[in-house]
Amino acid sequence: MGVEVSVEGLTKSFGSQNIWRDVSLTLPSGEVSALLGPSGTGKSVFLKTLIGLLHPEQGSVIIDGTDITKCSSKELYEIRKLFGVLFQDGALFGSMSLYDNIAFPLREHTKKKEDNIRDIVMEKIDLVGLTGAEDKLPGEISGGMRKRAGLARALVLDPEIILCDEPDSGLDPVRTAYISQLLIDINAQIDATILIVTHNINIARTIPDNIGMLFRKELVMFGPREVLLTSEQPVVKQFLSGDRFGPIGMSEEKDFAVAEQEAQMQAAGISGGGTKDDFSEIIPQVQPNPGQPERKAIERHRRRVVELLPTLPANAREAVERGMAEEDRIRADNRSRDEFGFGADAPTAPLKVVAGQTATDH
Ligand SMILES: Nc1ncnc2c1ncn2[C@@H]1O[C@H](COP(=O)(O)OP(=O)(O)OP(=O)(O)O)[C@@H](O)[C@H]1O
Ligand SMILES: [Mg+2]
Repeated sequence: MGVEVSVEGLTKSFGSQNIWRDVSLTLPSGEVSALLGPSGTGKSVFLKTLIGLLHPEQGSVIIDGTDITKCSSKELYEIRKLFGVLFQDGALFGSMSLYDNIAFPLREHTKKKEDNIRDIVMEKIDLVGLTGAEDKLPGEISGGMRKRAGLARALVLDPEIILCDEPDSGLDPVRTAYISQLLIDINAQIDATILIVTHNINIARTIPDNIGMLFRKELVMFGPREVLLTSEQPVVKQFLSGDRFGPIGMSEEKDFAVAEQEAQMQAAGISGGGTKDDFSEIIPQVQPNPGQPERKAIERHRRRVVELLPTLPANAREAVERGMAEEDRIRADNRSRDEFGFGADAPTAPLKVVAGQTATDH
């Protein structure tokens, strides 16, 4: 089972610049969580604090019973072996081939022989679709390819905790869907606890079990995905729809006069550029590919959410209940399909969820 990461009262500043304060959240073991937030709110700083690369002034990060903000460097070294991290910029060694970059954690942290390392590296290279590029240097490939190489490197140790800083940035929408699917498949295979930092609303809607958001130096919320997706908070709604009208400005926050001016523009029917999608309509989560095991965290997440239900806002509660009923229906359909041996091409194949899409037979 993946490892729980428990963050309590975390505060981080650089000199006099406070980045965020009093952040508390738990990444439940084996669940997939996403962290959203405008640029510069400290998402990458948060991720680096979770692995002890940056040091908070206050608070704790408990991983496997150890507070990594206070432990010895030897203990931290051991705890870091639990992690696979995809950094925002890929963080590949520029003078090493992709192969050597991806093999690096195996050579550093294990005593595996080179032929064993080769098998693992080539398997991960294949998983992220980089077969044939293994001898290239990071400077010789595209940004999206570097990102995928970074992900392959993050996966070689079969980590119990996977942190991905914008796995989608620099990737086209189709590759993004493949990478998202890969993360779900890996979660199903090894039950790793996953945190994805992203600006990609499609990922936020279809991948995580939980979503949080940083804004104005605070964690605005963190909880079951339905809570954020159905939230009425203006900052959340603006972020999801990608509209320039709202509390989020180009640089941090807006002053009153600008907000007032925008409200008038909005009233006059001028577009703020955002989508008019209804995010409160919860779309099904991406499921593991056929042939993969079921995600073990699904049941645990569900039990947790059922306990939380009475504390959730009414619209989130309704969304959760609708989602659970839909999930049950899909599972029952899939079970009966298995029982009666329907093939994928059967004319009356029942509803099946594939890669975030709902395909029906009508
Ligand atoms: N090592 C550092 N020293 C000083 N300031 C830093 C350091 N790293 C980050 N910062 C500052 O912390 C703030 C948050 O940066 P961070 O990279 O975490 O933002 P982010 O939310 O990841 O943004 P984006 O969505 O653009 O990636 C920024 O103001 C940045 O300048
Ligand atoms: Mg960042």
